[in-house]
Amino acid sequence: MRLDKYLCDGLGISRKDATKLIKSGDVTIDDIVVKSGSVKVKDGQSVEWQERPILLRGPRYLMMNKPEGVVCSHEDGFNHTVFVLIDEVRYEDLHFAGRLDVDTTGLLLITDDGQWSHRITSPKHKCDKTYRVWLADPVQEHYQQQISEGILLRNEREPTLPAQMEVVDEKEVLLTIHEGKYHQVKRMFAALGNKVVGLHRERIGAIELDDTLELGEYRDLTQLEIDSIFKK
Ligand code: URA
Repeated sequence: MRLDKYLCDGLGISRKDATKLIKSGDVTIDDIVVKSGSVKVKDGQSVEWQERPILLRGPRYLMMNKPEGVVCSHEDGFNHTVFVLIDEVRYEDLHFAGRLDVDTTGLLLITDDGQWSHRITSPKHKCDKTYRVWLADPVQEHYQQQISEGILLRNEREPTLPAQMEVVDEKEVLLTIHEGKYHQVKRMFAALGNKVVGLHRERIGAIELDDTLELGEYRDLTQLEIDSIFKK
């Protein structure tokens, strides 16, 4: 992680103030004065300001606008993982609160707080997720009713929970689901006889994808966003 970001996280200050502290010559990494915010802090290194150790704050909560072509895992023999895009120390402690397929884009929540992510992923909590879906063929009239009643997916015993669909265009819909079965959205439309050709997650619970994030960019969640997961 860059030194300026480390100070922002550790001291809860802005990037501008972190830069000022660094320029003042009072910040050291392993007892060596460092005057550039872009220097990387590596795992196990000690960062101090005026000889006071700066430790990273508690749990981390990030939102990314996930691009296509990266996988939600720590290792993959074929594709790059999302972690090539993440500049964080102890990144191996981070996990996803709801994975996206390699070709799906949009809102990805990343954290090291297992209780928090459990509220999002556990079927018991029925956390809403909204996807923008682009289809190969036009939306049919019967979709609305089938989606709101539940659809039996291949190799499943129980139908999907009732979901909501808003038609945006002939081949584009917004779909809100309340669970997260494997490849759920693609399988729902396959069961309806259509094919998903593009998929983008826009919302999880009350957390909406920040539209200032370019594909591949991420930011810390605000306290309001973090807390919203426990309010329902
Ligand atoms: N449903 C899918 O089919 N794919 C995703 O990435 C997310 C939901």
